[in-house]
Amino acid sequence: MTMRTRRYQVRKDTLAVVDRGHPWIFREQLSSAAGVFADGDWLKLVDGTNKVIAHGIYEASGAIAIRIMRRGPQPVDAVFIKAQLAAAIAKRTALASTTDGIRLVNGESDGIPAVVIDRFGDDLVIASYSAGADAIARYAGRVLGATAGDIVGPARSITLRPARRRQRGVASELPQRRVLRGTPSEIARFVEDGANYAVDLAEGHKTGAYLDLRGLRRGLGSWTDGTVAVNPLRDARVLNLFAYTGMLARAAEHAGAQSITSVDASERALAFAAEYHVDDRERHQFVTADVFEWLPALSESEQFDLVIVDPPSMTSNKTQVPGALNAYRKLYKAAARHVRPSGAIVAACCTSRIERAEFHHAVSEALGHRFKKTRELTPEVDHPVGFPQADYLKIAWWRRTV
Ligand SMILES: C[S@@+](CC[C@H](N)C(=O)[O-])C[C@H]1O[C@@H](n2cnc3c(N)ncnc32)[C@H](O)[C@@H]1O
Repeated sequence: MTMRTRRYQVRKDTLAVVDRGHPWIFREQLSSAAGVFADGDWLKLVDGTNKVIAHGIYEASGAIAIRIMRRGPQPVDAVFIKAQLAAAIAKRTALASTTDGIRLVNGESDGIPAVVIDRFGDDLVIASYSAGADAIARYAGRVLGATAGDIVGPARSITLRPARRRQRGVASELPQRRVLRGTPSEIARFVEDGANYAVDLAEGHKTGAYLDLRGLRRGLGSWTDGTVAVNPLRDARVLNLFAYTGMLARAAEHAGAQSITSVDASERALAFAAEYHVDDRERHQFVTADVFEWLPALSESEQFDLVIVDPPSMTSNKTQVPGALNAYRKLYKAAARHVRPSGAIVAACCTSRIERAEFHHAVSEALGHRFKKTRELTPEVDHPVGFPQADYLKIAWWRRTV
């Protein structure tokens, strides 16, 4: 793993960013000298005295201009990556006793920027989010794939989803995935708390499935109200909005829900849900629809014990935040009409562009005084949050009190 690096003198006012340990230098923090770099170039970052302060990767477009791969004068080498991997795996050992669906490496927050590695049973999926990080992603995958032990491997297959290379800001078409080892199952499998889950490795979002929603899947079936542990889903009616491949529907059924209605715009995702995440077909309904149109048109006589609202981020930049919040407000207002007394809404938001307080405020405004926020999840242990922008996921229960 040898990287040819180019020298870049960091602007004086940006040195503090590196010192503070933030893993990104934003485009507006660059000097004009950066204009000569190409997407994926490795940079040796120096201060005004030519002291090496970090090594990073340049990105030619988007808000992030440089990802800091290692602070200090030492280069990024195999020893460094192996140490980062060992630390990441150590954090997840306890998790391995309850599931084999685990995010093994969570990019910047695990000290390997731009690289995400998910384990779905015996299949590993690696995603690189920066052209310059592809080689590290491959190396990290090979190391983890060969590691025998409770938490990983030896993996049956390793698949890489490389970053899309950009030239003059335009992303190129690249093969969506490269198999580094074995033959990946089209459908990967993993077990979480005794429930079986399937992952569409060929077509799935991100690496294939939303492992970050594990806390929500778990939370559906176990609930502590004060000191009494109750299962709020026993015989419950659940409305699962933005259901995707039905992993929450599966968790709700596992927790004893009597009826689960899953709504999503993607027919393919719902077909996958019906095929892989259903035990008792009688208890499930699948509706292919645009939730923003379907929900307001739903008869008020349809009442649920739990309404799960997990919409897409609807923001690719900050200017879209007010519009997304507006859409969320309408959504929660519409959802509130279908919650039984003492029922609940789960409100989820998956973008760091909408701040935590801003999101909860919008939901609170939309739900009104009849609902009270009673529970909020913290990030899963395999999704550590190492810097503010990594704190993207917000999940809260809002209970109807009157
Ligand atoms: C964040 S994913 C949901 C993940 C899911 N809750 C799970 O447990 O895996 C968002 C989903 O919203 C769906 N979606 C996006 N816009 C939609 C719309 N207007 N109406 C219905 N579904 C939509 C997408 O097809 C996608 O499946």
